[in-house]
Amino acid sequence: MAKEHKQSSAITPLFSAEAIENRIREIGTEISLDFASATTESPLLLIVVLKGAFIFAADLLRTITIPCIVDFIHASSYGSRKISSGNVTIKHNLAIEGRDILLVEDIVDTGLTIQQVTAELMTMKPASLSICTLLDKPEARKHPVVARYTGFIVPNAFIVGYGIDFNEQYRGLPSLGVLDS
Ligand code: PRP
Repeated sequence: MAKEHKQSSAITPLFSAEAIENRIREIGTEISLDFASATTESPLLLIVVLKGAFIFAADLLRTITIPCIVDFIHASSYGSRKISSGNVTIKHNLAIEGRDILLVEDIVDTGLTIQQVTAELMTMKPASLSICTLLDKPEARKHPVVARYTGFIVPNAFIVGYGIDFNEQYRGLPSLGVLDS
């Protein structure tokens, strides 16, 4: 039986848990085909952008059938606000030279976070770097970013649930919705 969330009353539903699961399975299949040459000696490296992408990444990883390993990078720009601060704080301890990288994000909004994370990782000379985002909000874009894999295109509204927060709340909702303003 689905658990009830008391915190979901101020949220307009957007994508159900089932719709998310189905879309992620499709993306996982696509990634497995595109990186079919990965081996245990040379696996695909998923780099998960914390915190928002942790639930998406956990589910995506379990749909990928090629050898892959996981690491994490912490990037934050929103703090407790609904608009980006314009400054992205990036923390990591990664070794990625020569590896095929799949950067896993929950949402590309203005594009600032993923642009800055990508720029930093490219200085470390990966063999390739692709972006996989669950959600893309093209109307909000201020920095050019093109994701190779996108789960859903979303409207220019504040989305929460399935790992995505407002002021650290709502990450545990199994579905995605728009936070009522
Ligand atoms: C959110 C989200 C993305 C980023 C997208 O992170 O998880 O990383 O903002 O916005 P942008 O395209 O405008 O940069 P946030 O800074 O809220 O940190 P969090 O993931 O720890 O919640």
